[in-house]
Amino acid sequence: MGLPPVTTHQLYINGEFVAPQSSATIDVIDPSTTEVIGRVPDAGAADVDRAVKAARAAFDAGPWKDATAQDRGRVLFEIARIIRERAGELAELETHNTGKPIVEAEFDIGDAATCFEYYGGLATKIHGDVIPVPDNAMSLALREPIGVAGQIIPWNYPMLMAAWKLAPAICAGCTTVLKPAEQTPLSVLALASSFEEAGLPPGVVNIVTGEGATGAAIVEHADVDKIAFTGSSEVGKTIMRAAAATLKKVSLELGGKSPNIFFADADFDIAVEGALFGVFFNQGEVCSAGSRILVQRPIYKKFVEAMVEKAKAILVGPPMDRETKMGALISREQFDRVRMYQELGKQEAKVASGGGRATGGALDKGYFVQPTIFYDVDNSTRIAREEIFGPVACVIPFDTEEDALRIANDTYYGLAAAVWTRDIFRAMRVVKNLRAGIVWVNHMQPTYVEAPWGGYKQSGIGRELGKWGVEEYLNVKQVYINLSEQPIGWY
Ligand code: NAI
Ligand code: MG
Repeated sequence: MGLPPVTTHQLYINGEFVAPQSSATIDVIDPSTTEVIGRVPDAGAADVDRAVKAARAAFDAGPWKDATAQDRGRVLFEIARIIRERAGELAELETHNTGKPIVEAEFDIGDAATCFEYYGGLATKIHGDVIPVPDNAMSLALREPIGVAGQIIPWNYPMLMAAWKLAPAICAGCTTVLKPAEQTPLSVLALASSFEEAGLPPGVVNIVTGEGATGAAIVEHADVDKIAFTGSSEVGKTIMRAAAATLKKVSLELGGKSPNIFFADADFDIAVEGALFGVFFNQGEVCSAGSRILVQRPIYKKFVEAMVEKAKAILVGPPMDRETKMGALISREQFDRVRMYQELGKQEAKVASGGGRATGGALDKGYFVQPTIFYDVDNSTRIAREEIFGPVACVIPFDTEEDALRIANDTYYGLAAAVWTRDIFRAMRVVKNLRAGIVWVNHMQPTYVEAPWGGYKQSGIGRELGKWGVEEYLNVKQVYINLSEQPIGWY
């Protein structure tokens, strides 16, 4: 299999690929080899303005204004069909651009198609309410698309995050300007080449590539009605402040430091695998990573030993190898960040396994690190409090259920959590007392487009996926219809 030649891509605006006004470009790399695999424009404010104008026109006057719910549903199903048809090519592109194992990229592409299918079905089920009012009148609550959505996404699941943003927006009848992460623009640009075939009218989806400043230009644009963002909590806060200037609606899916809690009665072997899967899947570059592993004292020592044994067998390798279980980190920046935390962890806690760069053969060229487990971690340390976004696990012992809950909730984040026990009463008590938007019982990470996704506390605002996801793109219009022909009788 060969790499595609290095192409300099264009922006996708108003249904076609167009040259940017900005002459700046970004090198896109394969992080498993550090080779340049593409170039994209670093779009400026003028390019963003052009994309917003296209989205605005498609929404206000263009074909999208009159598209029926059935029309929108059909387009979404067509996009899904094309993703499935192009799945092999898109998965390879995703793996080359992210460094994630090909088997995981194949799952991502399939999940992206499923997301478009779900919202294809939902498009015809969005409707308002009739409200009983006391007078001879009818009160309606209509649900209308909010308008132009600005969508800014990260690099850990490039295609899937694009799907999570585009599908509900199209479903609702919005138009969008989407900015992929500067590290990973290739798969969504590849998909854009099929939008016309899918029947998506020009201007409904516009793809603008660039760095943070390009995202900021989208957030600041007065003609953008809503911002949907996934990324760091730091940038989420910046976006919320910037959106205040034009009072945009914002939905934010941010970071986490999610607890994965193991009680002594949990099924031991399944639990140990669940601990590793929760934190090492996708190189740990997962917003819901179970990066704090809380283990009850009676099984603590044995649990850490069993984790180490299994972690040593995790195959870190070239992402295109089907046996590879852990690929490369996304970038030099992220590699340095994870290496910094690996070193910090050696001072703040004890190393059970890993703790360095992964080397040997093909690995020497890329941003590979060892799956790393720290134990006897105190929840007040930096490695236990800060999102690392890499394969670094902190194992923390606890005694009682109260201790577990106190430690689990002692974080500014609140995205996800998991609890492992055979005691249904305890499981439900813990579920009820965890302050997190997603809680798994006896598993960690399964995610379904049908179910809501989002965080408590500083992990975010709003919900994606399911019927909740589309709400973020809808406005409510109250309509009063007078059914009485009597005079008002006031003056
Ligand atoms: P980031 O939050 O800076 O980037 C995410 C997206 O926001 C990218 O498309 C970026 O271009 C854009 N962006 C950056 N600054 C912006 C601004 N001022 N206005 C509008 N858009 C802006 O994340 P980064 O720097 O790639 O990673 C740093 C850390 O963030 C990671 O180590 C991880 O802890 C966290 N992160 C969390 C993710 C999640 O899924 N919750 C995803 C990616 C990163
Ligand atoms: Mg950043």
